[in-house]
Amino acid sequence: MEFSGIDDLCQMANRRLPRLFRDYVNGGAHGEVAVRANRQAFLDWKIIPRCLRDVSQVDIGSTWLGRSRGAPFMLGPVGFAGMMHAGGDVMAAQAAARAGIPLAVSTFSIASMEKLSRVPGVDLLAQIYVFRDRDLTRDMLRRAHACGIDGIILTVDTAITPMRARDVRNGFRRMTRPSVAQLLSMAGRPGWSLRMLMAGKARIGNLAPYGMGRNLLEEARNAAAEIDPSLTWQDLAWLRKEWGGRLIVKGVMDAADARQCVDNGTDALIVSNHGGRQMDPSPATLSVLPEIVEAVGDRCEVVLDSGVRQGGDIVTALALGASGVALGRPWAWALAAGGRKGMDALTTGLSGEVRDVMGLAGVRNMAELVAQRKQVLRRA
Ligand SMILES: Cc1cc2nc3c(=O)[nH]c(=O)nc-3n(C[C@H](O)[C@H](O)[C@H](O)COP(=O)(O)O)c2cc1C
Repeated sequence: MEFSGIDDLCQMANRRLPRLFRDYVNGGAHGEVAVRANRQAFLDWKIIPRCLRDVSQVDIGSTWLGRSRGAPFMLGPVGFAGMMHAGGDVMAAQAAARAGIPLAVSTFSIASMEKLSRVPGVDLLAQIYVFRDRDLTRDMLRRAHACGIDGIILTVDTAITPMRARDVRNGFRRMTRPSVAQLLSMAGRPGWSLRMLMAGKARIGNLAPYGMGRNLLEEARNAAAEIDPSLTWQDLAWLRKEWGGRLIVKGVMDAADARQCVDNGTDALIVSNHGGRQMDPSPATLSVLPEIVEAVGDRCEVVLDSGVRQGGDIVTALALGASGVALGRPWAWALAAGGRKGMDALTTGLSGEVRDVMGLAGVRNMAELVAQRKQVLRRA
C-alpha cells in the first residue's frame, strides 16, 4: 500500500469503519476545540529550508526513552485498536517491531499484553490507569514485569470522563449491546464485519483476568468507571515505590506539575491533552512544550503527542525540545485503512516525511537537528 499522507489514511478509515468505531476514534471532548487547536499550533512554526549541506545520508534514528530507536515516533496507547481491524493490535505490534519503534499497550487493548509481548522483536510499554481497586493495578504491574516490559505509562488526564458528543449520539459506554442502527452500520461495512466475525467474539483481552463484563461494550463501560478519580501526588509516589522500571507520566500540560512529577521520580513525561479528548479548553500540546522542557531541564525526557499528522510536525516538536512524539489516531486510521499494509505504509511513509524535512532543512541526524534548532526553527 502506497503512503499518500495521514489525511488519506484517515479518509480511507472513515470509509471502512462502522459508525460506532469511526466516531469513537475521531471524536473529542465537548466542542472538539482542543482537537483543532492541537493541529493549529503546528502552523505557528516553520522550518527554514537550507541548502548545499550534503544530505545524501539522513539518519532519523535516535536514542530516546532509554533505547536506540529507528525513528523519533512511537505508537501511543489506543484503546480498542483491535476493533479498527480484526487482529489489529498484533498487526500494530509487528509493524512497530519492523520499524524499530515502541508500541504502548493500552489498558483497553483487545489483545493482552501477554499476547503482544510474544510478537518477535517487539518493544512494548504498558499504559496503565490507577484503578479504584489498587490490587488490580498492582496485578497489571506484575503482569507487565512478567512480560519483560521495562516501562509503564501512567495516564493522569482521565480523572473525569468528559462528554464526547459523537459517543453520546451512539450510546458508546452506555449501551451494553449494539442497537439496530449500529448493526445496520456494521452490515454496511461488510469487509470489516466479515473479518471481525471470523476473528470471533472481541473482548478487552488486557482486562480479561478481572471479569469486568459479559461482552465488549459492558467491559468498556465498567472498566472506565473503575478508573480512580481521587488520585493525588501520594498515589504517584505509591506507584513509584511499586514499580522498579521506567515510569512515564502521560497527560502533563503544566510546568509546575511537570516539576512535581520529576520530584516524585518520574523518568519521562508525555505532554498530552489526550488528542483533545479530555479537557476541551486545553491549550495545544505544542504551545506548552517549550515551557515544560524548560521546567524539567535535563532531569527528565519529554515526549509530545496530540495532533501529530506529518513528518514536519515531528521535526518541529523535536526542535522545540521533545525527544520523540507519540501517535494516537494516525495508527488507528492506518489499521482501519489497510491492516498490516496500512501500518507499514504509516511507519515507512512517516519516516520518509521526517527524512525529507530534515534533509531539506540541511540536518543529517538528530544531533545536528538539536544543535541547529535555533537556525532551522522560525515562528510563522
Ligand atoms: C481511539 C483512542 C483511544 C485512546 N485510548 C487511550 C488509552 O486507552 N489510554 C491512553 O492513555 N490514551 C489513549 N488515547 C490517547 C492517545 O494515547 C493520545 O494521547 C492521543 O490520541 C494523541 O492525539 P492524536 O490522536 O491527535 O495523535 C486514545 C486515543 C484515541 C484516539
